[in-house]
Amino acid sequence: MGGPPLHEPDPASASGLAWQGFALLQLAQDWLEVDGVEQGNNAMAAPQEGTPTNKLRIAVIPGDGIGNEVVPEGMRVLEAVGARFGIDYAWDHYDWSCQRYAKTGAMMPADGLQQIAKHDAVYLGAVGWPGVPDHVSLWGLLIPIRRGFQQYVNLRPVRLFHGLKSPLADRKPGDIDYLIVRENNEGEYSSVGGRSFEGTELEQATQVAIFTRKGCDRVMRYAFDLAMTRRRKEVASATKSNGISISMPYWDERFAAIAKEYPQVKTSQFHVDILAAHLVRNPTWFDVIVGSNLFGDILSDLGPATTGTIAIAPGANINPERQFPSMFEPVHGSAPDIAGKGIANPIGQVWSGALMLEHLGHKQAAAAILSAIERLFSETDVRTADMGGKATCRELGAALVQLAMRA
Ligand code: NAI
Ligand code: MG
Repeated sequence: MGGPPLHEPDPASASGLAWQGFALLQLAQDWLEVDGVEQGNNAMAAPQEGTPTNKLRIAVIPGDGIGNEVVPEGMRVLEAVGARFGIDYAWDHYDWSCQRYAKTGAMMPADGLQQIAKHDAVYLGAVGWPGVPDHVSLWGLLIPIRRGFQQYVNLRPVRLFHGLKSPLADRKPGDIDYLIVRENNEGEYSSVGGRSFEGTELEQATQVAIFTRKGCDRVMRYAFDLAMTRRRKEVASATKSNGISISMPYWDERFAAIAKEYPQVKTSQFHVDILAAHLVRNPTWFDVIVGSNLFGDILSDLGPATTGTIAIAPGANINPERQFPSMFEPVHGSAPDIAGKGIANPIGQVWSGALMLEHLGHKQAAAAILSAIERLFSETDVRTADMGGKATCRELGAALVQLAMRA
């Protein structure tokens, strides 16, 4: 493998983090080459299907806080539709978390990526716990997986369900139904930068946002390919090329270039501030939204909040080439404020399981999970506290299992 530094830098420093990401990707690639897995075939950015296998090997990482409460419910629902549609799972559990960090000084083992590189997918809860700085937990686990496995698309559907009240006045199901495609490997979430004049009044911090041509083009093509599968065929780009005067005009330029490849797709472009306002005022305008790592992250908390609760929002970290496993996790975090009380809403985790099955080619089983969620809202009053109810995480999970078992 090519040139990591001779000594391992402090993993908490910016350069240490960069080294870590590089080393993990290199490890995963070396491992795949040694193992003779073919690479580079199938290299379209399209949201394509693999050949479905009925025996799925899933790496499970509950992580921290409510991750440990919602992941078991997600697994129960996956098992329920598995029994219906003939899917068997082998679940391999990993205790990678802030607790592990407290014990060993690392969120995951040094060969973590190798341990899960052969799984069909990764099913993750949430990461982060008071006492461990959030940038340490994120860069010690989630970001190395997203980058090491080239999961450069973070797909986050936003939908208002019948039976769930939107905080936006007079919005009904159908009014809010769009997909956020967030760039997941570069952009503002970089480990490049540093501090100088530390400890003096001239102290300063610099962090470089990185926008590569390959990185922009591939996530934008994914968004356009996705739009092509939808009735409306529209892509809106989130930009901020007025204030961020180098990287964002570049983003806009690449968006215009990729749009030319898709004459059937209607495009629009908004500065991210007014786009945020439109998601509140005019959510019906949107079909597929593509944004950078930071903008996509922010919009994908805002969007689900307009549908009633961020806790139902699912996420898929996708490696479209299928060279590496993709990872499925809810948008929400570890919610330390409610962890351990058994009241977390498991729907984001459950829906993420549906995205996982869809990615693995099990469309019917995925649809059965979504239908169970729809019927939970329309036919029952089982709601967790964040949705105004009294049900526990376990009770809501059990209701979904019942619904998922029947058509
Ligand atoms: P958060 O999403 O954990 O919580 C925000 C608010 O939403 C809290 O009031 C929480 O109780 C509520 N909430 C979240 N999920 C819920 C659920 N399933 N059911 C009911 N209520 C729910 O975000 P916050 O507070 O910013 O971060 C907490 C920790 O999680 C931090 O350490 C952060 O770094 C981490 N985090 C991790 C993410 C991940 O693993 N992908 C994503 C976001 C945050
Ligand atoms: Mg977020």
